[in-house]
Amino acid sequence: MKDHSNAVTYEYCQRMPINCQPLSHPPHTAKRLLSVKQAGMQFGQRLLWQHVNFSIVSGEFVALLGANGTGKTTLLRSVLQLNTLTTGEIHLTRGIQVGYVPQLKDFEPKLPIRGRDLVKLGIDGENYLFGFINPKRPNGRLWQSNRQKKYLVDKAIAEVGGEAFCDAPLNMLSGGEQQRMRIAQALAAEPDLLLMDEPLLSLDAPSQQVVCDILAHRKHTHQTAVLMISHELEPIKPLIDKVVYIKNSRAQVGGIEMLP
Ligand SMILES: Nc1ncnc2c1ncn2[C@@H]1O[C@H](COP(=O)(O)OP(=O)(O)OP(=O)(O)O)[C@@H](O)[C@H]1O
Ligand SMILES: [Mg+2]
Repeated sequence: MKDHSNAVTYEYCQRMPINCQPLSHPPHTAKRLLSVKQAGMQFGQRLLWQHVNFSIVSGEFVALLGANGTGKTTLLRSVLQLNTLTTGEIHLTRGIQVGYVPQLKDFEPKLPIRGRDLVKLGIDGENYLFGFINPKRPNGRLWQSNRQKKYLVDKAIAEVGGEAFCDAPLNMLSGGEQQRMRIAQALAAEPDLLLMDEPLLSLDAPSQQVVCDILAHRKHTHQTAVLMISHELEPIKPLIDKVVYIKNSRAQVGGIEMLP
């Protein structure tokens, strides 16, 4: 299977932007965004996980945890339909905007793009994955002017504190700076659900806190939900509403009391 895990190759995972305005769900109207039902994944003889059941509603922060190789990335990719389940089903609510921060991999050294261009892909990337755009979003808009796009890109870059390096070639940026650009890319299209695969990796402690603050802010202002894989638990502890913990090919689902 083609490897789509590098950020610059997943433009088809990004959604056509149709809205410049923040969502305005009242906090009490939590909406189901994602349901995973009896999901199972097997590669040949190797069973990765089975009987996985959980759901995510708007505003919810779900930590997807487990040891290396237990299949967390594979589960996230299954939500994006980049991997096909062996059993069960995953249902993403139709029309929602999904942002994706893939697990960190080096960019192609000769890739001739700047950090800013990577962020813009989050807005320009066409929606090949889901095959539809959502006319039902509040103030829904199928087309955006270059000025509107620039506004969203600048806003996302500012959110991650990337103004100082966003115009440098991507491959000249440090690992932490690249990671910030990837997070900005996922934020740029104002997602309802953020799928984040170890987004805190490569970031120093203050930068990890910046990312967590952004997510906490988005939760309250936009009801943005997050499904995050992380081996770093301390910074995300205050955000967690639900834990999905993969162990021995099963997913335990519970609250923060499940954390080690
Ligand atoms: N398409 C595939 N075909 C066969 N095996 C695969 C495929 N994709 C992933 N795997 C295997 O599935 C296992 C789980 O991989 P995955 O990347 O999901 O783990 P992970 O929990 O994200 O680990 P880490 O914490 O190290 O990132 C790995 O052993 C990997 O080699
Ligand atoms: Mg992984």
